Amino acid sequence: MTSTNGRKKVIAIDGPAGSGKSTVARALAVRLGFDYLDTGALYRAAALKLTRSGLNESSDDAALSTVLRNTSIEYKNAAVYLDSEDVSVEIRTPEAGHFSSIFSARKPVRDYLLDIQRNAGLSTDIVAEGRDMATVVFPDAWKKFYVTADEQVRAQRRYKQLKEKKADVTKKEAIADVASRDARDTARALAPLVRAADAVEIDTTNLSIEETIQKMLKALAI
Ligand code: DC
Repeated sequence: MTSTNGRKKVIAIDGPAGSGKSTVARALAVRLGFDYLDTGALYRAAALKLTRSGLNESSDDAALSTVLRNTSIEYKNAAVYLDSEDVSVEIRTPEAGHFSSIFSARKPVRDYLLDIQRNAGLSTDIVAEGRDMATVVFPDAWKKFYVTADEQVRAQRRYKQLKEKKADVTKKEAIADVASRDARDTARALAPLVRAADAVEIDTTNLSIEETIQKMLKALAI
């Protein structure tokens, strides 16, 4: 399937942490036979490389660029490879989430990941999910969604997710983490989380995963 501009079809889904966008994006991709691209995983892998290299939020852009120049990040078969090492599990810790939000505000990191993300949409139809899919990475996407939910509900979902992964985190910490990540991801100067003017907004606060997918399929007219 190709879109009108000759590229493969891209369904762009953006939204804040815990909105349910990853779960529905993955399920939607399976239903439609599209590939799934989790761009948060790419930011988490980049942050892992930078922290492993001893960098932190005070490091300057030149230091970030030097490390990233010698870094390879690949997303294949729902796994993320950092310099050929499968880091899919390691990037899911609360610490990795924190640093991904910090480093994702930085230009060298966003520039580095831009082509990796765009290339994923060249040869297959994809459901791409993140914070700036509809606004920056795939502004000509076939369909765009902005998925959101009440902050308390998002924090509760994030807490449940982390507990399922046996993370050592309290509910209070999960709530604080969601709030601070939202603030950082929406307030940053570069590619902040924002609903694209032409995105369909879906509030999942009172919706099940299936109900959310049904709303999306309806919007896609499928
Ligand atoms: O979706 P996630 O929680 O795995 O994303 C981790 C961080 O990466 C998030 O706090 C912000 C950043 N991110 C981004 O800036 N742009 C994207 N397209 C995806 C994620």
